[in-house]
Amino acid sequence: MITQEDILNTLKTIIYPNFKKDIVSFGFVKDVNLHQEQLALRIEIPSNSIEVINQLTNEVNEKIRSLGIKKIQLDIKTPQPNENKPAMTKNIAPQIKNFIMVSSGKGGVGKSTTSVNLAIALAQQGKKVGLLDADIYGPNIPRMLGLHTNKPEVDSSGKKLFPLKAYGIEMMSMGVLYDANQSLIWRGPMIMRAIQQMLTDVLWSELDILVIDMPPGTGDAQLTFAQSVPVSAGITVTTPQQVSLDDSARSLDMFQKLNIPIAGIVENMSGFICSHCNHESDIFGKGSSEKLAKQYDTNILAQIPLEGKIREGGDNGKPIVFFNPESVSAKSYTKMADTLISFLKQVNQNNLADNKDIQPTQDNSHLH
Ligand SMILES: Nc1ncnc2c1ncn2[C@@H]1O[C@H](COP(=O)(O)OP(=O)(O)O)[C@@H](O)[C@H]1O
Ligand SMILES: [Mg+2]
Repeated sequence: MITQEDILNTLKTIIYPNFKKDIVSFGFVKDVNLHQEQLALRIEIPSNSIEVINQLTNEVNEKIRSLGIKKIQLDIKTPQPNENKPAMTKNIAPQIKNFIMVSSGKGGVGKSTTSVNLAIALAQQGKKVGLLDADIYGPNIPRMLGLHTNKPEVDSSGKKLFPLKAYGIEMMSMGVLYDANQSLIWRGPMIMRAIQQMLTDVLWSELDILVIDMPPGTGDAQLTFAQSVPVSAGITVTTPQQVSLDDSARSLDMFQKLNIPIAGIVENMSGFICSHCNHESDIFGKGSSEKLAKQYDTNILAQIPLEGKIREGGDNGKPIVFFNPESVSAKSYTKMADTLISFLKQVNQNNLADNKDIQPTQDNSHLH
């Protein structure tokens, strides 16, 4: 006699395509209805990629059949084309208008450096900006902003935290909540909870933009954001060597699968500027991410050279965009901020248009 539990246990062996976790742990299995050897299953996934749907359909059918169940009614619910666009997605931090996810395939390519300088450059353009360090395993943002010895203040309820502030932006990071050198072993559900708390239990101001510095790769953190807030722009940071580009493709793929609009690619450590003679030479190559950008129908947002001052700024908590605004790199970050502001405008406009299409009668309600 097959039980509901047998079914769930079987479904737990099915990994959600391109991620590391199974569909039950992700909470995608919504309904399991077993009646006289007939099974009705409802699964809701955050993607409408045909490949993902086909892969899941095949695997579910195959594994459930092997349990001896002959009749399976499988209903895989995917987001409607407009459903997952920013304005339509739920937002557990509704005082924040736009969320920008800074991702990469690999660690050490410059995600945190990009996040810090981009966030400050956006603030310099008059936007109200926050920076959330979601790299739970290696939170580097506090040091890069010179805030690594600070502790956030608790509000009068004792339940919420004020974000820290530096160079005109607000910031929160696991790095200021735990001792810097304490190494933590995070499991999936803990990562989800930690991220959701950094969104809901931090007293962020009414922000125009929250820049999110992601851990490398594609995993729980990425999915948690996509399910909790409307991410309006995804940025992939890569270095120009092929081995980094290979991994970046996965990161761009993830944006597509999660319906996150791709804002573009940052080619970091693109050429080397000698601090003595200002001569520029190619170390890792330059311009090689162009092909990748074409492949994903997107653009190179910025090419940031390998420059001693960027690394020094990171280690000393003195971001280059703030302290050396005339440098080549700082100017690139500023230009990138401008491009992103336009991109966000475009995404938000598309959303407004989409909303009108969906509810055409709403605007006329006063006429009835
Ligand atoms: N363009 C650059 N020029 C010089 N050093 C850089 C540049 N980008 C990043 N770095 C340095 O490289 C190291 C890794 O960068 P980081 O931003 O921490 O990468 P990630 O967040 O992707 O792991 C840091 O020490 C940082 O200061
Ligand atoms: Mg980092």
